[in-house]
Amino acid sequence: MARCYCHWRRVLFFVCTPCISLALLFVYITAMLFAAMNETSTSGTAVRGLDAVYFVASGSSSKTFWDLHLHGDAFWNRLQRTLDNHFNPILCPNNTKRGFENGTFNESLLTQGFSKVINLESTSRNLDQLPQQIQEFITHMQRRDYPALLQPDGVCGAGRKEEKEAPLLLLAIKSTEQNFLNRQAIRQTWGQAGWVAGPKRKGNGGEGGGYVRRVFLLGRGSTEELGGNALQMESEQYGDILQWDFKDTFFNLTLKDVLFWSWFKDSCSRTRFVFKGDDDVFVNTPKLMSYLRDQLKKPHKTLRDFMVGDVIAAAVPNRFNESKYFIPDSFYKGLYPMYAGGGGVVYSGLLAKRLHDISKRLYLFPIDDVYVGMCMVRLNAHPVHHDAFLTFDFPNKEEEELCSYHTILLVHKRRPDEVVKLWVHVKKTQAQCWGVALRVPLSNDTATV
Ligand SMILES: *[C@@H]1O[C@H](CO)[C@@H](O)[C@H](O)[C@H]1NC(C)=O
Ligand SMILES: *[C@@H]1O[C@H](CO)[C@@H](O)[C@H](O)[C@H]1NC(C)=O
Ligand SMILES: *[C@@H]1O[C@H](CO)[C@@H](O)[C@H](O)[C@H]1NC(C)=O
Ligand SMILES: *[C@@H]1O[C@H](CO)[C@@H](O)[C@H](O)[C@H]1NC(C)=O
Repeated sequence: MARCYCHWRRVLFFVCTPCISLALLFVYITAMLFAAMNETSTSGTAVRGLDAVYFVASGSSSKTFWDLHLHGDAFWNRLQRTLDNHFNPILCPNNTKRGFENGTFNESLLTQGFSKVINLESTSRNLDQLPQQIQEFITHMQRRDYPALLQPDGVCGAGRKEEKEAPLLLLAIKSTEQNFLNRQAIRQTWGQAGWVAGPKRKGNGGEGGGYVRRVFLLGRGSTEELGGNALQMESEQYGDILQWDFKDTFFNLTLKDVLFWSWFKDSCSRTRFVFKGDDDVFVNTPKLMSYLRDQLKKPHKTLRDFMVGDVIAAAVPNRFNESKYFIPDSFYKGLYPMYAGGGGVVYSGLLAKRLHDISKRLYLFPIDDVYVGMCMVRLNAHPVHHDAFLTFDFPNKEEEELCSYHTILLVHKRRPDEVVKLWVHVKKTQAQCWGVALRVPLSNDTATV
């Protein structure tokens, strides 16, 4: 009796298990087929099905690979989803490597997606309703092959003299034609190229230094006749100007990142780290040098992903239409991804090259910091927050302390004359403040990542 019961249980087991497995497989395949079919049949207005499954677009603080939120009706989200789906390893397994092999930019893919979405948009919604700045952005967002007007002659920025090792740091500073004074102040102070020593005390030559290069990133200014010639002379004298032929506007700043990465890959491949920042900040370069020396001791994997700055997580797009950061929700929906904002960020040369590659799979986004964050999401890399990047200046009266500027790597914003004064101050107090540590979070709960 007991044996018989056992026998039936075994039969049931052997019959049912494959049945259940097959049923599950069937459900999975059906779901995948539906997703794939929807993807290829967007000629009409049947985009709705697409919203169900897509590669994590952006702005989600969740760690999931698949995301179900329905932000599909905003212009940029819809546009980017055509690309994300194309490179989705599950929906299109054959495409994941494409576009990476020889670094060529698959422009036709971007154009295809763009015209498809633009057609849908013009029937369903009036793009003319968008603010002027966004419209301007949309009409030019497909183009990124602007030629360089001025560039350091085949080398990676100013500062190449008797270097005995690969440059430790390239300072890539966003500037504009009219900000000559900012550039001069930087050249004389924290942006000096050549060998830079780490923090010094008496009798110590400065530990943990390295070679520094410098380049300013510019677009085309509006005062053409005046500016053009002067900038050319400046370029000849200092060899640190990298200027492209696009209008230097706020919503064109992302072009500076994308074009800079491309130039970096060609001209700077040995450089270990990049600082990318504004021309109205003060950087404690000696401290930064010793901080970066320490990073070099970390494993290759860490360096591949290395980005540090003032990290902002789960930011909400600015919906205030008077702001220069204004992004209407018909253009972009959802939160912004984690990104390093405000004034300056440091990343490894290895990461710069990876950002260059991945940027070919992302439509330009009008806010540059956010765009870099979107690239990071797709590289599955996370920027690291450091309290020594002071985007919003010193809290309270901390600035007045003697060694305050030795506890930071960057502070935003400083005028050119302030930069010069601060540099003198930092040099003067260097021996006294030699040992002070970089700022750390005041309370544990702000220590992210
Ligand atoms: C994907 O690649 C494999 C092998 O390279 C090929 O046999 C297959 O037909 C491709 N599939 C599609 C959908 O292109
Ligand atoms: C690589 O480059 C060659 C010619 O330069 C081109 O024919 C080929 O299509 C490219 N491959 C990819 C995947 O872009
Ligand atoms: C960006 O630059 C291009 C080329 O100069 C220009 O036509 C376009 O209007 C600029 N875009 C914005 C948003 O200003
Ligand atoms: C901002 O929005 C308000 C009301 O929504 C509108 O009256 C105003 O004209 C807008 N301003 C701009 C600059 O678009």
